[in-house]
Amino acid sequence: MKSLFASAACILAALICSVSTAAELETSTPLVQAYTPGLGEFMSAIQVRHAKLWFAGKGKNWPLAAFELDELKEAFEDAAKYQPEFKGKPIAKIIEPMTAEPVAQLEKAIEAKDSVRFMRAYDSLSHACTTCHQATDHGFISIQRPTFPPLTNQRFSLGRQP
Ligand code: HEC
Repeated sequence: MKSLFASAACILAALICSVSTAAELETSTPLVQAYTPGLGEFMSAIQVRHAKLWFAGKGKNWPLAAFELDELKEAFEDAAKYQPEFKGKPIAKIIEPMTAEPVAQLEKAIEAKDSVRFMRAYDSLSHACTTCHQATDHGFISIQRPTFPPLTNQRFSLGRQP
């Protein structure tokens, strides 16, 4: 009986001990050290989505266009969440108001499968990108329609496989 108590106490001590080590570990490696992408990295991802979106719309691949637009929105949200301020500019405050209208127009065009509306809305999104760059001292980064797919290992238009 005595030894049973002793071993129970041992197990309890070990448990308490391991719990406190875990707590210590947590405080000694704060989450602050976790890697956060810089705004430029978010923007590079946004640039690829923006280009893919064009070729999806041009190829009338509307499900892909909807997907890329959704990814673009998520990337804007992530940029605002993880880089709310950048070199004194309130990214989180301006990113949504600056892009919401063209994004909404693109959503409508994609839903209506309307190529003409899509192209018009796409150009206003590109314009919004450039306008925000101007507002954040990066006016030299000017965004336009892409002329060539960013990656050639993905089929953008709907069609028969080769
Ligand atoms: C909040 C305003 C804002 C919006 C909206 C915005 N950008 Fe940017 N973008 C910036 C800032 C600020 C930088 C500079 C980041 C840096 O210096 O690291 C930048 C940088 C870039 C770069 C340069 C990245 C590199 O490393 O070469 C590209 C490309 C880019 N943006 C594309 C876009 C596209 C495409 C859109 C629209 C779909 C867009 N941006 C929308 C603020 C914005």
